[in-house]
Amino acid sequence: TTITAIDRDGSSHDLPWEEDQSLMEVLRDNDLPVLASCGGTASCATCHVFLAKEVFDSLGERGPDEIEILADAEGYRECGSRLSCQVEHSPALDGITVELAPEG
Ligand code: FES
Repeated sequence: TTITAIDRDGSSHDLPWEEDQSLMEVLRDNDLPVLASCGGTASCATCHVFLAKEVFDSLGERGPDEIEILADAEGYRECGSRLSCQVEHSPALDGITVELAPEG
């Protein structure tokens, strides 16, 4: 599975996504500026990303913790914001584009 990540400076990076990684781990482990200071427990919002609406819709509902954290996040999008630590690998996500949200 390969994804394209758009950094905050607009640069584009094609990254491999292994089955045992969350989306946050792909970004962080490939040196994109994702702090993930809570370690992936949906409580820091530093892994906030934007997804295209069709990708967002395909992932299903966000959990209550995730919605609460995102509501205060910089640039929040009702139909596009996700905490990348809460997005698990799926072959169906091959080829998606993920945009890093502004730092909060
Ligand atoms: Fe902290 Fe995702 S890593 S909310």
